[in-house]
Amino acid sequence: MRVGLYYFSGCGNTAWVTQKTIEALARRGHEVIYWHNLEQPVPGDLPKTDMDLFLAPIYFAGIPSFVVDKIKTMPITGDKKAVFWTVAGQFSGIGRRFGAFMLKDRGYDVLTTHLVLMPDTFLPLALSQISDEEKKGVYQKALEQIETGLDAIETNTFQTENRVTATVASLLYFPYLYYIRYVMAYCFVSTSACIHCGRCERDCPCQVIRLSNKRPIWHKGCTGCFRCVNTCPVAAIDLSAWGVGFGSIGAGVGWIIAWLYLGFLGSVLSVIMQVVAFLAGFWAGTWLFQKLYLLLPIEKGLLMRGKKRVFVADEEK
Ligand SMILES: Cc1cc2nc3c(=O)[nH]c(=O)nc-3n(C[C@H](O)[C@H](O)[C@H](O)COP(=O)(O)O)c2cc1C
Ligand code: SF4
Ligand code: SF4
Repeated sequence: MRVGLYYFSGCGNTAWVTQKTIEALARRGHEVIYWHNLEQPVPGDLPKTDMDLFLAPIYFAGIPSFVVDKIKTMPITGDKKAVFWTVAGQFSGIGRRFGAFMLKDRGYDVLTTHLVLMPDTFLPLALSQISDEEKKGVYQKALEQIETGLDAIETNTFQTENRVTATVASLLYFPYLYYIRYVMAYCFVSTSACIHCGRCERDCPCQVIRLSNKRPIWHKGCTGCFRCVNTCPVAAIDLSAWGVGFGSIGAGVGWIIAWLYLGFLGSVLSVIMQVVAFLAGFWAGTWLFQKLYLLLPIEKGLLMRGKKRVFVADEEK
């Protein structure tokens, strides 16, 4: 079978899985025609394939907004058969169903979906760390999961999340699309440890970080990949609890104002307006925090301070 691969990888895990999948496909006698990093523009004249394999990480129980935008707009080549794989720390949420849905929307015949588990690039920053021994175990299992995924393709077995999991996960994912793009970036801060190297600005896949007076400033449009946090050479990037707090207060104020004007659960329109006011309030709160933070650098209340960064797959290359 002639296969083309498309992938996006925030911190290197999905790139690692892509590389191992290419090797496994070759061992099974398939011909890999191209592998394309979605951070580069997709050429319209890629050679014809029998199947396109898409690989994307899972952020907040779904696929990154960056990948959503790419799939929506990329020129489609190949024989219109596709497979959608996700790479996650624990579970794929709504990601596999949503990826398959988007590919179908672009005219693909989606053969199956699959999940490969890799070390988490988010939770260890806030919670417990993962040991090197545990990491090795996860890599080993991931190699086995790649083989299972390829078996499913070869035996034409369709798999995806069950409906209930996907529905519950969508409750987390759809707010994420708003939250990441418009709110979370305003909670990122660089501490006095910053050496002004410009790496975060250069490497951000969405190009939403700009150095101003040598200081990184985050703008809207972030996809939540945490590459900046994980790859800063001096671990100077953090999320501020103050930012989250300002956002929460803003959301509460927005909701109360809407409630006072519109009444509680009076009509569908009233509920929609309350949600809009809540989200707008969150945005306004974090925006205000960022402006204050620039005036008064506050280094207390950082959410991930002192935690080792987990640029996992990069260490393994
Ligand atoms: C902001 C963020 C949110 C995440 N959310 C989830 C999640 O909901 N479920 C999960 O299983 N893993 C989650 N992860 C972990 C990633 O899916 C996992 O580490 C993946 O391998 C990252 O791939 P990458 O290095 O190619 O970006 C999250 C990671 C980040 C950075
Ligand atoms: S990568 Fe880190 S040290 Fe370099 S400019 Fe960004 S925050 Fe500063
Ligand atoms: S700002 Fe950081 S987390 Fe957001 S897209 Fe850029 S590198 Fe990823």
